[in-house]
Amino acid sequence: MNKAIIGLQWGDEGKGKIVDYLSEHFDLVVRYQGGNNAGHTVIVNDTTYKLNLIPSGVIRGKTCYLGQGVVLDPNHFSKEYDQIKKKLVNPKVFLSSNISLILDYHKQLDKINESILKSEKKIGTTAKGIGPAYQDKVGRKSIKLYDLRSIKHIEEKIQSIKKFYDPILDSFDQSKINIDKTVHDLISFYNIVKDIIVDNSYIKKEFKSKKILFEGAQGALLDLDHGSYPYVTSSNTVSSNIFIGSALQVDFQTVGIFKAYSTRVGNGPFPSELFNEIGDYIAEKGVEIGTVTKRKRRCGWLDLVSLKYSCEINSVNELCITKADVLNNLSEIKVCKTYNSKKYDDVNFSESNTLESLNLDDSDFEVFQSWGEIKDLSNFETLPENLKIYIKYIEGYLDIPIKIISLGPERSQTIIR
Ligand code: GDP
Ligand code: IMO
Ligand code: MG
Repeated sequence: MNKAIIGLQWGDEGKGKIVDYLSEHFDLVVRYQGGNNAGHTVIVNDTTYKLNLIPSGVIRGKTCYLGQGVVLDPNHFSKEYDQIKKKLVNPKVFLSSNISLILDYHKQLDKINESILKSEKKIGTTAKGIGPAYQDKVGRKSIKLYDLRSIKHIEEKIQSIKKFYDPILDSFDQSKINIDKTVHDLISFYNIVKDIIVDNSYIKKEFKSKKILFEGAQGALLDLDHGSYPYVTSSNTVSSNIFIGSALQVDFQTVGIFKAYSTRVGNGPFPSELFNEIGDYIAEKGVEIGTVTKRKRRCGWLDLVSLKYSCEINSVNELCITKADVLNNLSEIKVCKTYNSKKYDDVNFSESNTLESLNLDDSDFEVFQSWGEIKDLSNFETLPENLKIYIKYIEGYLDIPIKIISLGPERSQTIIR
């Protein structure tokens, strides 16, 4: 059966590691949304791979595909593709010809958008131009990969884009769009990637009866429609976007992935956030520093209320828990089970105001005892009793089985139940 790995929190749940782990049994690994705002770290036998666009299946030599729902920065992709070609022999990567491009003015506009917001209202984007690139896609102004097949098409499009954006760029003292440079750079980029650009129909035909693994980027709580707007990313991260973003209409099972605690980069509500030394300890032990922006990630206890919501909006079939090893030796571990005594079906998650007004107290948390160190990773049964109690409580609350347990960044530190 095809599978999708979907982040259930605010991103960085360990999707890259698990996609690498599972991809052994798949033929094609597909990204369907987001861009290089994603940062996926995979560690295999002491080699660290940091990927932003190329799916993590590339490490095992699997064919990788960036579907039409991805927004692609040509500069970034060229560098990442180059680096991966230096590390791996003959990586197999295809790009949908229908992908929308991120160009320099999108990055300028991303910064302008943030600069006009008051400090407490800033989104805290990755500044990679993601929002403005999706705005252009919806506004029918994107330059698509297929446009690069004709200089005339690029010139025509960029001329009208320039008319639209130059007055804005100019009024914020930003450099205006340089048509000649943009066209020149796009043609150079096209020469690098022309052999790996394919139409959607090609992928559909080639992989009709093959096994496909979908790699989510970001997380359900950053979803444009389901997350706490406006503190979200600009794409739909949930599993239902797979059909649109990949153009592959195939059945799949959804594996929802979450950390044993919560983290968030950027601004926006975070009900179970820790503002004390335990939060600092988790951040340090879990190396919670953003791969893309190097910002420190905010840390908090696991939030089962939002996790239940994420499972529902993604139709999750099975779960994967990561990074419980980071909580080793803490004298007690807490999980959030209610929001001011309210259960998840009484909460409005897509309005930031609702979540911002929460102020959780002790009665909203379940407390678990320390499980000390994890000495034996051979199977679920050999894990410390208190860790098994923790995992079974989460499973019971969500009523979905936890089938994958990751207890370290290495590919080998993984238990399948
Ligand atoms: P992604 O964006 O969901 O792919 O996650 P990131 O790669 O941005 O962040 C997850 C980080 O945790 C990476 O540095 C991984 O190497 C690391 N990691 C993944 N799983 C585990 C785990 O079970 N335990 C520990 N300690 N680290 C993990
Ligand atoms: P992965 O795939 C964590 C966050 C940003 C910001 C918000 C909007 O590694 O899990 P954007 O640049 O997308 O317009 O920023 O979304 N964000 C992520 N946080 N992991 C990610 O990706 C993220 N991608 C975007 O920090 O709060
Ligand atoms: Mg990440």
